[in-house]
Amino acid sequence: MKKRIGVLLSGRGSNFEALAESVAAGRIPNAEIAVVISNREGAPGIQRAESRGIRTSVIPSKGLEREVYDRQVAAVLDEHQVDLICLAGYMRLLSPFFVAQFPNRILNIHPSLLPSFPGLESQRQALEYGVKFAGCTVHFVDENLDAGPIILQATVPVLDEDTEATLSGKILKEEHRIYSQAVKIVLEGKYKIEGRRVLSAA
Ligand code: GAR
Repeated sequence: MKKRIGVLLSGRGSNFEALAESVAAGRIPNAEIAVVISNREGAPGIQRAESRGIRTSVIPSKGLEREVYDRQVAAVLDEHQVDLICLAGYMRLLSPFFVAQFPNRILNIHPSLLPSFPGLESQRQALEYGVKFAGCTVHFVDENLDAGPIILQATVPVLDEDTEATLSGKILKEEHRIYSQAVKIVLEGKYKIEGRRVLSAA
């Protein structure tokens, strides 16, 4: 049976698209994207999913208490019997209810070398701080913001001439690469978690 991935997004959806490409190309073997869910109407990522013939669901979050909202999202994920949830530019903090519902089955991609620069505008934060290397992180999700055990990271050098836009572009390219790798590792179960450390296992 193919492993079923549910993607949650809020916007552009380039990380979703990279995952979909990897599934189609067999870089994430024996898997399918079962559903793409957005909390924002008109998210370009939803259109991208539709044009690939992938099921979508828009569940507007406005005005809803966090757990009430998350219960609706969890119901749709259950309906589609997902094995793994990938946050792909999903700009919401998850409730403890949601995290407990899918233990070690939620991944996130973040555009910084965590634990540096969590939250919003991480690339700008990195540039303004003056770091010489920036990057991205794929990690398991817990109820804290951009926290949880780290599966993979990738670095990019920060050059004198970099702007927020050029740095974001370089990081995004690495995001697309390592997110698929991390999903493959997790779906194949080739890891073990010891404390905060995610180690490889046969
Ligand atoms: C990506 O850079 C992703 O790492 C970031 O949002 C962007 C979404 O782009 N996520 C976060 O900042 C989560 N804290 P995309 O919609 O093109 O994948």
